[in-house]
Amino acid sequence: MPFVSALPADRADGPIVPTALAPRLSRRSALLGAAALLAPLSAGIGRAATSAAPAAARPDGLIRLSSNENPYGPSPEARREILASADEAPRYAFDSIRRLVDALAEREHFDRSQLVIGSGSGEILNMAGLLAAEGGAGGELIAAEPTFEDLPEFAAKFGVVTRSVPLDAGHRHDLGAMHAAITPNTRLVYVCNPHNPTGTALRREVIAGFVRSVPQATLVLVDEAYIDLADADGVGTVVELVNEQPNLLVTRTFSKIHGLAGLRVGYAIATPALAARLRAKQLAWPNITGLRAARASLGAHGFLAETRKALIADRNRIEAAVDRSGMARAQSQGNFVFFDTGRPVREFAKAMLDRGIQVGRPFARYDTWARVTVGTRPEVDRLLAVLPSELRRRA
Ligand SMILES: Cc1ncc(COP(=O)(O)O)c(C=O)c1O
Repeated sequence: MPFVSALPADRADGPIVPTALAPRLSRRSALLGAAALLAPLSAGIGRAATSAAPAAARPDGLIRLSSNENPYGPSPEARREILASADEAPRYAFDSIRRLVDALAEREHFDRSQLVIGSGSGEILNMAGLLAAEGGAGGELIAAEPTFEDLPEFAAKFGVVTRSVPLDAGHRHDLGAMHAAITPNTRLVYVCNPHNPTGTALRREVIAGFVRSVPQATLVLVDEAYIDLADADGVGTVVELVNEQPNLLVTRTFSKIHGLAGLRVGYAIATPALAARLRAKQLAWPNITGLRAARASLGAHGFLAETRKALIADRNRIEAAVDRSGMARAQSQGNFVFFDTGRPVREFAKAMLDRGIQVGRPFARYDTWARVTVGTRPEVDRLLAVLPSELRRRA
């Protein structure tokens, strides 16, 4: 069935300039951070937006808005597990993996055999790259350009050639063009929703229609790393499709809304058969600290809601500031904003760095566009204090 686009008029991720080492998180500072997170709400702004999360504080004062991290995490619940996990350090992670799989199976309403845990969803993407490499030379992968590069870059090491499809005028996946690019050699199609680096998202029915249209011999990976931050009508997970579509993999991460990027936990959901194929490609052992923190974070409902509220409110503030400057931008559904700076992005990034703010790396086809991660409320205040003048300085 051909896919007809019905679109309405809709790494881990490094910086441009390498940073100094992040500050060490001692037991004491972890506890202090947890205490700050438990502090009472201040008027009008949620707990997450007012807390002094350790990740936000750098000794050099540099504000890191380059890697789509969530500086409000981890939740108090996860922090307790992080500290408690020290006693389990001599053990391998069998039990912690089983417990996280149980918790996810219950939460997502799937059988445990349908879940695959990875060391970050980045590992899962790499494992999917290995699946695409099965069958020998000549295999192809279809991805948007630009996109989050982990999967195409890893698959390339095993001979998989990426056919890149430009985004549409709205900076969204052009699913019609991606479908047209499918050939008998296409092993996998990568769709990132919401997308990195643009932040745009396609509606659930649009993604579902696309997934149904892809020949079943071709895998489709829908990367939902940022799905918890989406708030537009009709945007949501397609995970329920995995029982219907044997070629569909949906990936998620604890690095974004859960604020656990440094602890490396992600997962995939697929049919039991596809999950088993994926699991066979596992590259690394997940770690007990991350697994315990992830499981605890699933129950941190208040913290997750406050974090989401704060990040979306500040995403809106950044978008409004870009709009006031008259520069073009994409419509973000993630914890970052992608906009035109009017000059080579390396120049813009250098100017921002001189003012103490590190922004994201350059992306293909968007030479003058910058991706800026939503930080804490004070960080965004500082960003907004310098952004308008930097955008006025455009070439
Ligand atoms: C779209 C997307 N997918 C996956 C990842 C990988 O995240 P992690 O390996 O931390 O789970 C990222 C990281 O920034 C991302 O932007």
